[in-house]
Amino acid sequence: MNKVSFFALILGFALLATACKSGINSTTKNTSATAQDLLEARYKMLLDYPVDSMSMPRSMTIKTNDIKKVPSRDWTSGFFAGNLWQLYRLTGNAEYKKQAEKWTPFSKKESANKNSHDVGFKVYCSYGEALKVENKQEYKDVITKGAETLCTRFDAKVGAIRSWDFNKDIWDYPVIIDNMMNLELLFEATKLSGNKKYQDIAIQHANTTLKNQFREDNSCYHVIDYDPKTGAVRKKTTLQGYNDDSVWARGQGWAVYGFTMSYRYTKDPAYLKQAEATAQFFITDKNLPEDGIPYWDFRDPAIPNSARDVSAATVMASALYELYGYTKNKTYLAYADKVIATLESDKYILDPKINAPFIFDHSTGNWPKHDEIDEPIIYADYYFLEALLRRK
Ligand code: GLY
Repeated sequence: MNKVSFFALILGFALLATACKSGINSTTKNTSATAQDLLEARYKMLLDYPVDSMSMPRSMTIKTNDIKKVPSRDWTSGFFAGNLWQLYRLTGNAEYKKQAEKWTPFSKKESANKNSHDVGFKVYCSYGEALKVENKQEYKDVITKGAETLCTRFDAKVGAIRSWDFNKDIWDYPVIIDNMMNLELLFEATKLSGNKKYQDIAIQHANTTLKNQFREDNSCYHVIDYDPKTGAVRKKTTLQGYNDDSVWARGQGWAVYGFTMSYRYTKDPAYLKQAEATAQFFITDKNLPEDGIPYWDFRDPAIPNSARDVSAATVMASALYELYGYTKNKTYLAYADKVIATLESDKYILDPKINAPFIFDHSTGNWPKHDEIDEPIIYADYYFLEALLRRK
């Protein structure tokens, strides 16, 4: 008996009835009732996870049953609150909202943390999601404060926000493709405050990235190191990819998502063009598996015996729902729908016997560091839920 049927027997019709009543059911009507039950049960485990103001569940090593918990300074600290807000929007179940309200302040102090560019992920994925549900001044203030903090990392000579402060012996001014994601905080802060500075910096950052971060084939580099004295590119390199010239899957997702989102705020056709070109590269590459879930790096020589990365698929799926909205290109819709359909199966949903606050297994965090390989990771869930909302 496989995992799904085993689980369906245990849960029986009680859960099915709940699923039929929920908003989620209407977004996933093409899936079997058993996969739907399985998802509902995983969502419930997020609800049951106790609030801890010191650490947030980030990922899990299944073999040892260890949940990796992180403090607010970790780049992922906004996702748990974000998942709960999104589940509230999907289901209308007030329990998710109650829990989301308790978790949201977890990342609040990060709005003043100048130590990395990740203030966007930390603040916008929590407070940004909260603001979509409740129009509270407190949420707006945290977002604007976060944007002010992020701007302190901008250098006009380079024309970009500095990503990291570590590895100073190797890099002078590293800018990573992931940093495109943090621009949403800046664009939103301009909308909320009327202060154009945030948006101006976001546009300069996006333009510099557009100029230097992409290859001729429209895949992107992970890290560009700049010379802050001249603004010139020193090195095109990687930290999380297989090698400097490889194609780190999640990085491609960040690029497509980041430029699609930047197009949303600016309507600059150059951003749309890049998002489409990189999306095209991703969905037509020979190494993308049939089920749509990429290997962690498209150029890992071990393919097909290589780890997948569900998070890269969910980031890309969410981005492509938005990109489809601007272009009406059905291949984007087809890829995103395929990812959702693939994930809603017992192959990817975390084993129902595992009691942990995650939805999916099989993401890869940092392969070169041998860290979080083929595991449940929180941001895969976040972008999956966002994709469901966008599909709706
Ligand atoms: N932003 C870090 C990562 O994608 O792993």
